[in-house]
Amino acid sequence: MKKLIGVLLAVLVIGLLVRPASAGDKLGSAPYEKYETPENCGESCHTDFYRQWQQAMMSQAYTHRWDEIEYFKLAVPQAEKDEKVAEVKAGCNGCHAPLAFLAGDIPPPKPAENSRANESVSCDLCHSVTGFVGDTPYNFNWITEPGEIKYGPRETGDAPAHEIRKSDFLGTAEFCGTCHNEKSPYGAWVKSTHLEWKEGPYAAEGVVCQDCHMTRALLATAEMSEEAYPDARLHLFHGAHDPGKIRGTVELRIYPDIVEAAPGETVTFSVALFNQKAGHKFPTGSVEDRILWLHVEAVDDAGNTFHLPVDAKGFDGEEYTIAADVLAYQDMGIALDQPDFAGVQRDGVPIGDRIFRMPYFDPQGRMTIQQWNTASLGPDYRLGPRETKIETYTFVLPADIAAGKLNITATLNYQLLVRPVQEFLDVPAEESAIVVVNTYTTTIEVRP
Ligand code: HEC
Ligand code: HEC
Ligand code: HEC
Ligand code: HEC
Repeated sequence: MKKLIGVLLAVLVIGLLVRPASAGDKLGSAPYEKYETPENCGESCHTDFYRQWQQAMMSQAYTHRWDEIEYFKLAVPQAEKDEKVAEVKAGCNGCHAPLAFLAGDIPPPKPAENSRANESVSCDLCHSVTGFVGDTPYNFNWITEPGEIKYGPRETGDAPAHEIRKSDFLGTAEFCGTCHNEKSPYGAWVKSTHLEWKEGPYAAEGVVCQDCHMTRALLATAEMSEEAYPDARLHLFHGAHDPGKIRGTVELRIYPDIVEAAPGETVTFSVALFNQKAGHKFPTGSVEDRILWLHVEAVDDAGNTFHLPVDAKGFDGEEYTIAADVLAYQDMGIALDQPDFAGVQRDGVPIGDRIFRMPYFDPQGRMTIQQWNTASLGPDYRLGPRETKIETYTFVLPADIAAGKLNITATLNYQLLVRPVQEFLDVPAEESAIVVVNTYTTTIEVRP
């Protein structure tokens, strides 16, 4: 019996020893000094990668003004009074300031203090990752092994500054998924870019995140290296903050059911939206903030403009996908100590326009932009990878419409952050600048 207990104990101890560190175990497990600074990697050797990374959101994940506002103004204050979401005070940093999380420097000094938290998602963080814990990458469950060895895509022999070990993991979508999938403390999938990709056509074809966000080009990967590789991965990580990446993501076409009509007659316009560019849904990622909406207008021969509201389809929760004059985001009042906060306008776009979104709800069932305070998700009305959605617009030609050409224009607009929230929280206006994804015009003839 004693022997058996001994064996069981040994199994337990070994089990504990070999069990990979979970997200929680990582908190406070490694001082900043274990990781190289990006300047060290970049200034003398990896100049090109460093310049690319510096311009990417990856190098600003902690310092970007909207991130700072959301973390310090909303997340930390709520985490300090609401036990259920207490974990996010540290947790946000697991993805946005991983070195601060590993150092246990929580909350990290504000960006203005210029601490090492500002390194955000740094070179050495990514190049020390060797795998992830469990079956599904999410909530920063990467495994980090900092030190002399840097992991990369090829066997090139050691560099003067460090050893190099080939690892296939960095080239997988799962690596990206460790930070690009997120589950809220209530168990809701509040970020699922990798999961969306996985069930879409690109995963099946072996097209990974890196193929679209770290495109291949002929580049010498280090200053002293004599050889340039034709398949070096640019570290640009262009995403939603790059208007050029957003533009053209969706193709638009409009077709009318009849090409000639008289005043009083009804014409139905169908708008087809094809997601030709994104490897996941659009919008993806911080879906709670993003807004993508279709605005349709008709202009008659005399220049009169008519705004066409979308025809409802009748699915459950559709009211969240048609711009309306309602208030939302009341749960910002928790952090701001305004328990009776009435909320702000939900959409800030023309009423009646179709919105492609998935609403997030707080535990009270109110729409929220606070993904950590999200208990459930509403209807997912986004554009899947290579998906085409058709929206219809029924237009009864007004009695006084001018005869001649009637131009119908559909415009698909995008904002990173709904404008009423941007204004309320004093976030820099560029965060709600309108980016036109695409536009298309068709013409019918109005008979006198
Ligand atoms: C978000 C994670 C991430 C960050 C941050 C990052 N890298 Fe990379 N890096 C990658 C990935 C992914 C690859 C390609 C891996 C593959 O294709 O298997 C790569 C490849 C490389 C390579 C190998 C190039 C080649 O083609 O042989 C070097 C060198 C490199 N990175 C240096 C850097 C430097 C320097 C920085 C900081 C300025 C940096 N990386 C920041 C993820 C990252
Ligand atoms: C350690 C966590 C982490 C890993 C690993 C990671 N990312 Fe990110 N990534 C982030 C964070 C945090 C941001 C957000 C920056 C911000 O806007 O605050 C981001 C931003 C981005 C953006 C820019 C989004 C925008 O809005 O413009 C792209 C694109 C991106 N990542 C792609 C990738 C790809 C591809 C990989 C895998 C090679 C990857 N990421 C791996 C944490 C990570
Ligand atoms: C076929 C090309 C393609 C593939 C594959 C792809 N993306 Fe994207 N990605 C895009 C395009 C285009 C956009 C801009 C439209 C949008 O925001 O969805 C984008 C946007 C993003 C954004 C910005 C989202 C936001 O709102 O901040 C992130 C982050 C991102 N991708 C990460 C990933 C990750 C992680 C993977 C792999 C799991 C991946 N992408 C696979 C094309 C791709
Ligand atoms: C599992 C990783 C992860 C965690 C945890 C996480 N984030 Fe993020 N966050 C990201 C990634 C990746 C992006 C950017 C790309 C996207 O939109 O998908 C992002 C984007 C954002 C943005 C939008 C930035 C912009 O400019 O549009 C804000 C704000 C933000 N996060 C704040 C927070 C706060 C506050 C917390 C904690 C409550 C948090 N995040 C927790 C990964 C994470």
